[in-house]
Amino acid sequence: MVFSARQYTAVVDGIREMAKDTWAIRLRQPDLAQQITPGQFFMIRPADGSDPLLGRPFALYDTYTDEDGRPVGVEFGFVVVGKLTSLMTDWKVGDTVEVWGPLGNGFPVPSARHLICVAGGIGQTPFLAVAAESLGVKRYGSPQRQLPKLPESVTLCYGVRSQDYLSGLDDFALPNLQIKVATDDGSYGHHGFVTELLQQQLDGDEQDVEVYCCGPEPMMKAVAEVCSGASVKCWLSLETPMACGFGACFSCVTKVKEDDGTWDYRRTCVEGPVFDAERLVL
Ligand SMILES: Cc1cc2nc3c(=O)[nH]c(=O)nc-3n(C[C@H](O)[C@H](O)[C@H](O)COP(=O)(O)OP(=O)(O)OC[C@H]3O[C@@H](n4cnc5c(N)ncnc54)[C@H](O)[C@@H]3O)c2cc1C
Ligand code: FES
Repeated sequence: MVFSARQYTAVVDGIREMAKDTWAIRLRQPDLAQQITPGQFFMIRPADGSDPLLGRPFALYDTYTDEDGRPVGVEFGFVVVGKLTSLMTDWKVGDTVEVWGPLGNGFPVPSARHLICVAGGIGQTPFLAVAAESLGVKRYGSPQRQLPKLPESVTLCYGVRSQDYLSGLDDFALPNLQIKVATDDGSYGHHGFVTELLQQQLDGDEQDVEVYCCGPEPMMKAVAEVCSGASVKCWLSLETPMACGFGACFSCVTKVKEDDGTWDYRRTCVEGPVFDAERLVL
């Protein structure tokens, strides 16, 4: 892997509320925006002060462009859980922040006829860029990542606790993207878990399908089991807490199976965050 991540100063270009406790921020940083690909992430911390000292990882939601179509910034979505995410809701347009990236491997180029993205909660964030690229709407990376063959269909199965937490449905309104929503409390879409939506999709169409998944760990484990039962290839994007983001501290390790049946630790920040579900010890 070519390690092209750099540390940048970026300027907050926009902030919007997406859903309950859920926000999106645009950061103007053209170099990062031109290089990053779907499923990669970046670390962020405030430019001033030392609290928090360590950056926090966030997945690319999408890039945005200038009037000539050149990528000039990255947008990320986040849910408020702790120190930095609480502070970020007060960031204003024009504030400067430190950002380093692009980090991680990102999702592979899709290779199946039908790509199903399965998202739990804020785990939807990597899939806007995945869907835009897979549907041929947008290209990412420098040089731009090429997809030898686009999937014939792309589906987003998106599960949240309740309708209040549904975020970004307008952004996901891409031509030919099928969207299936599940809520735990039945307030919107299917009443139940997102794994049931996935199972419905696979029951109707198990030929040449692959699954990309991101969300809470128990949900990803359940998705991996459904895929294994249907002999469908599944890639999981882990949200392991991280300290450095570039492979130095080993705070982000996860257990990965070796070819000889043993397992070893792998750093999620450099060897992930996307892993073949069959290789993970879940
Ligand atoms: C590759 C990657 C991509 C990510 N992308 C996104 C994204 O696009 N949007 C988003 O909202 N979040 C994303 N996350 C999770 C995000 O990094 C954490 O929510 C963030 O670090 C919390 O920072 P904080 O300072 O607000 O919380 P802290 O004050 O650091 O922690 C608050 C609480 O959250 C717990 N916590 C912190 N990080 C995690 C975690 N990763 N998993 C479970 N519990 C955690 C802590 O143990 C603590 O209890 C991603 C994580 C990774 C590894
Ligand atoms: S976060 Fe430091 S090695 Fe991964």
